[in-house]
Amino acid sequence: MNGVKKNTVAPMFQLNNITKSFGGGFSLSPLSLVIQKGETVALVGPSGSGKTTLLNIMANIIRPDSGQVIIDGVPAQKLRPGRELSRRVGMVHQQFDLVDQLPVIHNVLAGRLGEWGLGRSLLSLFIPQDKHLAVHALERVGLSAKIYQRTAYLSGGEQQRVALARLLVQRPAAILADEPVSSLDPARAEDLLRMLVGFAREDEQTLVASLHSVDYARRYFSRLIALRDGAVYFDLPVSAVDDGTLARLYDLGEDANGEAICQNP
Ligand SMILES: Nc1ncnc2c1ncn2[C@@H]1O[C@H](COP(=O)(O)OP(=O)(O)OP(=O)(O)O)[C@@H](O)[C@H]1O
Ligand SMILES: [Mg+2]
Repeated sequence: MNGVKKNTVAPMFQLNNITKSFGGGFSLSPLSLVIQKGETVALVGPSGSGKTTLLNIMANIIRPDSGQVIIDGVPAQKLRPGRELSRRVGMVHQQFDLVDQLPVIHNVLAGRLGEWGLGRSLLSLFIPQDKHLAVHALERVGLSAKIYQRTAYLSGGEQQRVALARLLVQRPAAILADEPVSSLDPARAEDLLRMLVGFAREDEQTLVASLHSVDYARRYFSRLIALRDGAVYFDLPVSAVDDGTLARLYDLGEDANGEAICQNP
């Protein structure tokens, strides 16, 4: 699988020496990363290593204590919620983040909220706006038959596909996915990952996803960034990741405290 498309090589995310501490003792070490447009990156590492924190910083949901975050060439602190941010970054979570009581179409069209502003967003609750976009997105994820179904009645796998359709409607330059498949059974998880990575490549989007399964990470992504205790433990093209390196990443024993392995892909 080809990672970076020739015409899109430019940084999507630049993190320069970012740090973040929480009360309980965890801290993200001074961490620097560049992710190019069009890359598909899996973020791996043990529970508590800082994957969600890092994704939230990249999504501009939380601010680092120090350091600089540049999203698509713009310093993060200058990007206000709404259109400026929603065109650049879209997020998908483990728990889908949908409004259960609403029909599927409304959840899909929520991907347009950043674009519409308040008036049109409210109107859309009664008369769905840009309905054709929702229809097309639901066709792509294979759920067009459920467009008016109440979201709560869908299975977990279907709900995650609704969340994916919402992203297709939003069309951000970059997708950040925080454990998008960990609540799905293996068949549904593979299905969803194949779609997520496939759509990102078709639409030339950057994709960064945290995953607990290193097997999925190796099979579907081009670059693996591993975190351990809030620091980058390795940053490698998938072809350079071997079983020993992965075993050391998750090893709880003393041998695991070796040198970090960093190589720019
Ligand atoms: N808002 C917060 N307040 C206090 N501590 C926090 C907060 N958010 C995260 N932490 C702590 O920061 C550390 C890293 O958490 P984070 O959720 O980023 O890890 P993770 O790699 O995503 O773990 P997991 O694989 O279990 O999802 C944890 O020790 C967590 O308890
Ligand atoms: Mg997490």
